[in-house]
Amino acid sequence: MTRHDLPAGMIRAASATGLHEGYMPGWANDFETEALPGALPQGMNSPQRCEYGLYGEQLSGTAFTANPPERTWTYRIRPSVKHSARYTRIDLPYWKSAPNVVPDATSLGQYRWDPLPHTDTPLTWLTGMRTMTTAGDVNTQVGMASHVYLVNTSMQDAYFFSADSELLVVPQEGRLRFCTELGIIDLEPKEIAIIPRGLVYRVEVLEGPCRGFVCENYGQKFELPGRGPIGANCMANPRDFKAPVAAFEDREVPSTVTVKWCGQFHETKIGQSPLDVVAWHGNYAPYKYDLRTYCPVGAILFDHPDPSIFTVLTAPSGVPGTANIDFVLFRERWMVAENTFRPPWYHKNIMSELMGNIYGQYDAKPQGFIPGGVSLHNMMLPHGPDRNAFEGASNAELKAEKLDNTMSFMFETRFPQHLTDFAGKEAPLQDDYIDCWESLEKKFDGTPGVK
Ligand SMILES: [Fe+2]
Repeated sequence: MTRHDLPAGMIRAASATGLHEGYMPGWANDFETEALPGALPQGMNSPQRCEYGLYGEQLSGTAFTANPPERTWTYRIRPSVKHSARYTRIDLPYWKSAPNVVPDATSLGQYRWDPLPHTDTPLTWLTGMRTMTTAGDVNTQVGMASHVYLVNTSMQDAYFFSADSELLVVPQEGRLRFCTELGIIDLEPKEIAIIPRGLVYRVEVLEGPCRGFVCENYGQKFELPGRGPIGANCMANPRDFKAPVAAFEDREVPSTVTVKWCGQFHETKIGQSPLDVVAWHGNYAPYKYDLRTYCPVGAILFDHPDPSIFTVLTAPSGVPGTANIDFVLFRERWMVAENTFRPPWYHKNIMSELMGNIYGQYDAKPQGFIPGGVSLHNMMLPHGPDRNAFEGASNAELKAEKLDNTMSFMFETRFPQHLTDFAGKEAPLQDDYIDCWESLEKKFDGTPGVK
């Protein structure tokens, strides 16, 4: 299958601008798109009869009275009540939700894991999800979970939605296709996708095996951070987010829909594909974003700003300036600061930090934090450069230097992150990680002028 081949029977709208086949540019735009001509009502949302005999239906991602409300009007072959029957509880033992405090796991610590190894066992988007940490409480819609996915098998006549969360997907290996109610997103490493709460989709493998990271956001939706004095440009620019054009399939085949709801999984059986939205308009939609379009801003004379300067997306909490989740990107950039220790400094932080390496080498940890790997520096746990990074950066000649071949990210939350049983016992934990600081020397002996 080549990149732009559609699933058999899928009919897709023409692109809005023609620049990005299958996608419409912009963040939180009020998009409109139709896969059949005239399917989208004009000038109103709920005509007495819709074209083609379609049903009109609203999907609300915020309370009706939120300002601004985020909602999308869909025009579909069947209303969603026909894609939902009686539910049966099912078990997905590796996908955990907060609160999930494991009595014999010690979450207090600095941890690092090797990449989860691929396996010959068939794993789908649902069975291949491995929760590493949880934070907050899914029932009160605060906090998050961090997952690593291992996917080698497409979902067939099987669909999913999470009522609990929006998912931020960060691929590290392989290519996935998200066939959603609102259109198709093809995703590969160096891109991310945001799948909104409540949106039905299936995930296909375009090129596998696939591995990547997911931040499951229980709380308020991700938004673009305010740039403050930086102004109207740089960091993540709205035009670089892409929402899919409408695409639908009219397939009558026995199918299952799995629903994640308050941390539990339920299955329902239906007789057709639920991906039957022929046209839609609104501002509640899935997106993808190319991380290579992220324009980093940094120090141009001395010191360096807090890592919040690299925030791509932020999910607010009820406390101003204190995110439920920040998604932060450490990518290629120039280092030019004078008389400055250039890597991230030593610190303790009330926020807890889960990092993943997408590719290359991370400057504060030249070894050990490898592509596909994960590290966790939990609430108020000190961390910083290892000895090699410290000595190298303390003695380097400070000329302009390109930090190249590097892309790591952080899921940072205001809540402590609790290890799952899987993270503590099954995942390839590096037992010696904490030793990376052991060889740091005491240099102080009271002599003035010694540096
Ligand atoms: Fe940190």
